[in-house]
Amino acid sequence: MTATKGLEGIVAAASSISSIVDGVLTYRGYNIDDLAANASFEEVAFLLWFGKLPNQDELSRLQQDLSDYAAIPDALIEQMKLYPKDMSTMAALRSAVSALALYDAEADDMSREANERKAIRLQAQLPTIIAAMARLRKGQEPVAPKAGLSVAENFLYMLRGETPEETSVKALDQALVLHADHELNASTFAARVTVATLSDIYSGVTSAIGALKGPLHGGANEAVMKMLNEIGSIDKVEPYIQEKLDNKDKIMGFGHRVYKNGDPRAKHLQKMSRELGEMKGDTSLYEMSVKVEDIVTGQKGLKPNVDFYSASVYTQLGIEQELFTPIFAISRVSGWTAHILEQYENNRIIRPRAEYVGQTDQKYVPIEQRS
Ligand code: ACO
Repeated sequence: MTATKGLEGIVAAASSISSIVDGVLTYRGYNIDDLAANASFEEVAFLLWFGKLPNQDELSRLQQDLSDYAAIPDALIEQMKLYPKDMSTMAALRSAVSALALYDAEADDMSREANERKAIRLQAQLPTIIAAMARLRKGQEPVAPKAGLSVAENFLYMLRGETPEETSVKALDQALVLHADHELNASTFAARVTVATLSDIYSGVTSAIGALKGPLHGGANEAVMKMLNEIGSIDKVEPYIQEKLDNKDKIMGFGHRVYKNGDPRAKHLQKMSRELGEMKGDTSLYEMSVKVEDIVTGQKGLKPNVDFYSASVYTQLGIEQELFTPIFAISRVSGWTAHILEQYENNRIIRPRAEYVGQTDQKYVPIEQRS
């Protein structure tokens, strides 16, 4: 038995949710470019869960359900008020989603119908948790969700306490479409491994949030912004990046296990970043990002991934850095829960083997004889 480090190239599940073939990403057979240009996030979530684009009635029902389920239990808000103000937002989200299960009477109901309802509830409640957390960190009271708003609009509304302008809503909605699913990425795999033991959907999503938090996965978008802030201005890009490359440090937001010729989502976020800068009359963050890309791609051949330009997009939307990875979770919970439903439908416990590389033939030594 020989281990494949990082399971590179291993096909670990059969799925009909999303695919990456020759660098093209599709959700249920729809090219991501087509969806990014035309679909709302709610349509995409429906597509991931139910395998087809919704008709008008189905979409209206989903929008209504998302609206009805968006409030979170008061007891959870009280619990979140006890979290330290300087909390890691992803650690807090992981804890809050795990706690959410305690208030759901259906948490352990394993029927397909109950799991679909829980998937929609999780989708509805994650933005509410994150917006509440963001406000609590600043010593502000959470704002309750407002009926009739889309996921993107409601999130910005709850975050800011006022109705967001259309440009921000559109940009965030498109970013949510682009992040919704991505085949067997690390967090989705973590979710599938967890529920393949026939554990519940909240356990699966909690595992996924833990995996997304890491800087090699979803945490990279926050790391990108940290880097751009450290760089500070366009004239400092070259020495900063050169030093990192000379030290063989990783440049966050670049590289990908599957895409070697570029991440198809990155171009949409790059365009969004440029347009938001132009609209605000300040493209400096975008230009700095482009310069980083020129150097990293020029010298290492590495292309930006989904996280690179999302950092400048969210910053230009006025969103603080600590919320970037939680926003990724707002979108990806649609994909995680779609994969969890799929795993339950055709389940087998996921239990691979390890190549043993430790010592052998050891003899037990009584404790008093050990050095
Ligand atoms: N900066 C500099 N060098 C890099 C980078 C990078 N961002 N990414 C890969 N490399 C180099 C590696 O050092 C390695 O070089 P070597 O062969 O000389 O040792 C080579 O490219 C291959 O890289 P691996 O790390 O083996 O690639 P792997 O497939 O294991 O990892 C990953 C992929 C984690 C995305 C990696 O490219 C990385 O760490 N990128 C930065 C973090 C990041 O942006 N993560 C977000 C990914 S997208 C997402 O999850 C949403």
